[in-house]
Amino acid sequence: MVDLDWKNIGFGYVKTKYNIRCEYHEGKWGDPYLTAHEYIPMHIAATSLHYGQEVFEGAKVFRGVDGKARLFRIEENARRMKASAEYLLMAAPPEDLFIEMCEKVIRANAEYLPPYGTGASLYVRPLLIGTTAEVGVKTALDYMFLIFVTPVGPYFKNGFAPIDVVLEKLHDRAAPRGTGQAKVGGNYAASIQAGAFAHERGFSNELYLDAAEQKYIDEFGAANFFAIKDATYITPLSRSVLGSITNKSLRVIANDLGLKVEDRPIEYEKEIGTFDEVGACGTAAVISPVGRLYDPNKDKWYEYDAPGKYSTMMYHALQDIQYGRAEDKHGWTRVIEGI
Ligand code: PLP
Ligand code: COI
Repeated sequence: MVDLDWKNIGFGYVKTKYNIRCEYHEGKWGDPYLTAHEYIPMHIAATSLHYGQEVFEGAKVFRGVDGKARLFRIEENARRMKASAEYLLMAAPPEDLFIEMCEKVIRANAEYLPPYGTGASLYVRPLLIGTTAEVGVKTALDYMFLIFVTPVGPYFKNGFAPIDVVLEKLHDRAAPRGTGQAKVGGNYAASIQAGAFAHERGFSNELYLDAAEQKYIDEFGAANFFAIKDATYITPLSRSVLGSITNKSLRVIANDLGLKVEDRPIEYEKEIGTFDEVGACGTAAVISPVGRLYDPNKDKWYEYDAPGKYSTMMYHALQDIQYGRAEDKHGWTRVIEGI
């Protein structure tokens, strides 16, 4: 294993040994290959560079209490990439190829998988880009699919600890009939200003309302939104939020724990002051309990129990499955054999 300060690594790029790539030309995917190069030779007119024809994914591998390496719900990432790619009329790698390449690149970089008990994990970042030279706004005929891995710590500092977030008042993340549901780089480009401004003022992330009316809660810049009220797990139903795999899992876990689960539009003004607990959830964020939400329109702070009872129970239930401490009764993990 490489020598890294595992307990203190943040969420940044750490160079590993290999990434894996596969190219699509003339209607077919070629053979995947590992490479130690961190750069991509690309045409200056590639559609991904000019017109944002790129989609990506995020997953994690965990070193378990039993020493096994577990990849979490990777089939869901493969399906979501396909759905995102369809939105941008891109060719997507078939699910089998996606998973085979994930396994290969994880195995090739096994020495970067953080040890059990450090709170760190190996982040898996699949990326699909259009590579055809085009000047008109159209879809590419050629693609590169690549996956790199990098060891990461918590996305929001201190891990499972209360964060402050801010209601975003100046920017929208995704239009109601836009790309919000797809994991495309453009959604993150739209959030960069708001995110930077939030960070400057000491907030971990910004919360977006629906772009049409500013009435309903959508999600955070880098994670989904959930709230707990009266032993009910509530999460926004919206056309413009990313279908989070963590959120999908938490709905099942909440149900397992005896909570009611509601997936419905959440009216900000009516409900934001009524929640017992609020959280941000995602692969990078895991569950980040929200201690305070600042509303700049009203110069008002909303406070929540953080980490609250139910968020704590869900966090442990999720991580117990990921780290092999609890039975994986929903079949969410894939053991990477031989590492
Ligand atoms: N929402 C946004 C905007 C995200 O970037 C992410 C991260 O992937 C999520 C939600 C959470 O999705 P998942 O749980 O699939 O990682
Ligand atoms: C993830 O949670 O995997 C994401 O893609 C979020 C990203 C902003 C780091």
